Amino acid sequence: MEPHDSIAVLDFGGQYVHLIATKIRAMGVFSEIRDPDDPVESFRHYKGIILSGSPALSAHDGESGWSRGVLDLGIPVLGFCFGHQEIAKYSGGTVEHTDREYGAATLTILNDSPIFSGLSKEETVWMSHGDSVMELPDGFVELGYSADAHGKQSHRNSAIAHEGKKQYGLQFHPEVDDTVNGHRMLRNFVIDICGAKADWKIENQIEERSAAIREQVGDKSVLLLASGGVDSSVCALLFKHALGTDRLHLLHIDNGLMRKDESASVEANLTRMGLGPSLRVVDATDDFLGALEGLVDPEQKRKAIGDTFIEVFERHAAELDLGAVLLGQGTIYPDTIETGGSKRADTIKTHHNRVPLVEQMIQEGRVVEPLADLYKVEVRELGHALGLDAASIDRHPFPGPGLGIRLACAPPTDDLDPTTMRAELEAALEGTQLRALPLPVKSVGVKADLRSYEHPVLLVGPDPGWDTLTAIATALPKRVHGINRCLYEIGGSTPQQARHIPGTITRARLGLLRELDAFVMDALERHGLMKTVWQCPTVLVPLEVDGHGTELVVVRPILSERAMTARPADIGPECRAEIAEKLMSYDAVGAVAIDVTSKPPATIEWE
Ligand code: XMP
Repeated sequence: MEPHDSIAVLDFGGQYVHLIATKIRAMGVFSEIRDPDDPVESFRHYKGIILSGSPALSAHDGESGWSRGVLDLGIPVLGFCFGHQEIAKYSGGTVEHTDREYGAATLTILNDSPIFSGLSKEETVWMSHGDSVMELPDGFVELGYSADAHGKQSHRNSAIAHEGKKQYGLQFHPEVDDTVNGHRMLRNFVIDICGAKADWKIENQIEERSAAIREQVGDKSVLLLASGGVDSSVCALLFKHALGTDRLHLLHIDNGLMRKDESASVEANLTRMGLGPSLRVVDATDDFLGALEGLVDPEQKRKAIGDTFIEVFERHAAELDLGAVLLGQGTIYPDTIETGGSKRADTIKTHHNRVPLVEQMIQEGRVVEPLADLYKVEVRELGHALGLDAASIDRHPFPGPGLGIRLACAPPTDDLDPTTMRAELEAALEGTQLRALPLPVKSVGVKADLRSYEHPVLLVGPDPGWDTLTAIATALPKRVHGINRCLYEIGGSTPQQARHIPGTITRARLGLLRELDAFVMDALERHGLMKTVWQCPTVLVPLEVDGHGTELVVVRPILSERAMTARPADIGPECRAEIAEKLMSYDAVGAVAIDVTSKPPATIEWE
């Protein structure tokens, strides 16, 4: 088979690296993530090269030794954010710390350029940077400058180009959906400037990936961990296609952290897909709850769950006496990148299928993960091509560690300085009828590509309307120190005080969460919201609110495409009211809130 034209994305550790590649693949052009330290020669065959953003700041602790010679290969280059600054620096421009620019901004385009072909003179773009290109290198021109949403703070050189060399730098992130016409800019680069042929299709991937599976597995067998979610189901069908059923064994581990009646329905679904004969279902609740006993730190919990999956896998692999067996996992892209999959990326969360035990097995060549470079949308397309039924394809994603990461355990925190924070919050909420209660727990978030572990605030007061609410939730974490998440109280109480309660993972809390989660899912279904809402975690936070209950319940409906970024979803007043009323009827529940934060700065899950 002829090799496909391809585009390299140099991974400097920005959170959106794989998003760039996925968007290019969606145009039908193969794109792969590459290490910027690889030898220059290994980049010669690409049609184009993209330099990603980075958590590093170019002006100071910038990259030292990456293979900058790729900029001399004569191949078209496009840089975003940090990559844009590197292009300018390499040719003799200067980069300096400037005012931070974060969120939506308006780009004013000054010069015609093929990179902006078909666009207007003003474009909405998404920024996240603290450094800027100040002086342009010889031969480069300024294509555009940017201003924030209020028209203030003009940043020069937000887009630059050397048309002769086909080198382009954009200070913003066209790969993020919030850059409204980012897709068009990427397309202009890939198809028009690089001249790449669009012949990479997900349907071809069945045969290409099957061949790769056969090559890796050789004459061994695969024991696939099948959670029943879309990823592992697509993976199971792909293995079946590649290897047949004799050498494929499915292990569904009920980790005790599943949703209500989940394992039974998973078994029924996999059987319906013709995978029944290969399937073994084990109840490992005791193993998981034992490993989690007393743990409160989110990362420790994740590691305990991941390790227990491997222990149970090893035990059953031995019992099944399969001979040489590889561990199959339906790992997809966000599971790897958010664990700090690239050497420059910060670890936001360790995904259960990326704990050190699994990493070690990967090193030993004992793991086969045929979807590890695909996004959810691509996995769903592949599932469709493999004949997976629509209901399974459209299931909401559910994390491997399950309800284990939705039962917040919240170690006590002593860094909440209510006086300073209250003053900052009051200033930020001036002119609204809302009041903010900082909560004495923390949750995980991501700010400027780095992990954040900070406090949520509970907003209390008359509903200001969805747009205002989400605008406030966007503004608060930027203006108030130590905040990464905003909740809005919907249970009809007017909380004055939230007191921390020691909380671990117990059967009682799990039982409660299962009931509440089932009700929330049912309410979304009844209101016809299951398709619009991409995912909706329900979270128990161990807090006593004004002397009531032992849990604050948080419902987090979100809109997303690839889980790398997300926006809160408006589920409407009726659905909201129904959920609030039902959840408040439980004695253990002291208050109910919806999470109205985007990702970033909050992640989708709380831990
Ligand atoms: P976050 O919370 O990082 O989640 O914004 C992004 C997406 O990943 C899911 N998630 C996981 N999936 N293993 C998984 O298989 C994990 O350890 C894990 N942690 C988070 C999460 O539900 C969301 O869809």
